[in-house]
Amino acid sequence: MGEASSNRVCVLGETELFTAASTHIATAIRSAVAARGRCDLALAGGSTPKRAYELLARHELPWAALHCWFGDERCVPHDHPDSNYAMARAALFDRVALPAANVHRVEAECPDREQTARAYDAALPARLDLLVLGVGPDGHTASLFPGSPALLETKRRVVAVVGSKPPPHRLTITPLVIAAARSVLVLASGAEKAAAIRRALSDPEVSPSECPARLLRDANWLLDRAAAAEIATTSWRNA
Ligand code: 6PG
Repeated sequence: MGEASSNRVCVLGETELFTAASTHIATAIRSAVAARGRCDLALAGGSTPKRAYELLARHELPWAALHCWFGDERCVPHDHPDSNYAMARAALFDRVALPAANVHRVEAECPDREQTARAYDAALPARLDLLVLGVGPDGHTASLFPGSPALLETKRRVVAVVGSKPPPHRLTITPLVIAAARSVLVLASGAEKAAAIRRALSDPEVSPSECPARLLRDANWLLDRAAAAEIATTSWRNA
């Protein structure tokens, strides 16, 4: 675990956090489209990024060149309140001129999760332009939970897992997708994340198996003060 990381941490006030996240994502989209004519963006699930997605929808962007993927999905219907797709659809997709064909949801409601994982693995681009991730209080990211065999996966890019955060059955990207991403944005807010953020960013004794967010070695971290309470940072920006 000794290798140095090149994580970049920015600590912001609560309201500025989501504005900054939406601007960071918008900038990445513009840069990717300018460089390659297309942006492959993978969205995080959970509740934290919702406000950032709503603010992202206000940006003038080349939506037809954007392709949206998901870092993980819960095995629930696509219109279920726990669906990451349903959250992103309400916060972003339904508010912008993003072609339906450009939204690549994980069909996690299908009973054959292994087949769904193989299909999503085959569809994912070799490299995402931007991967947005959250962090759980236990240090999980995407649906890579502490102690999960998925953390040791060296061949498959998408796998079915049973996680400790309800709903338990999920499909998730593996560390291969994280490592291949051109850029990673980690978004975390709230005191309940502070210990996991410290372990992920400041504790070299902690392994990715104990704290999967330690896999994130070259990411941009946007944190609010509560989530950053247990780390020493020099890059404070006050709201
Ligand atoms: C999920 C997410 C998960 C999430 C963290 C933080 O599907 O649950 O992908 O990794 O990002 O658990 O969740 P909150 O943003 O709700 O705190």
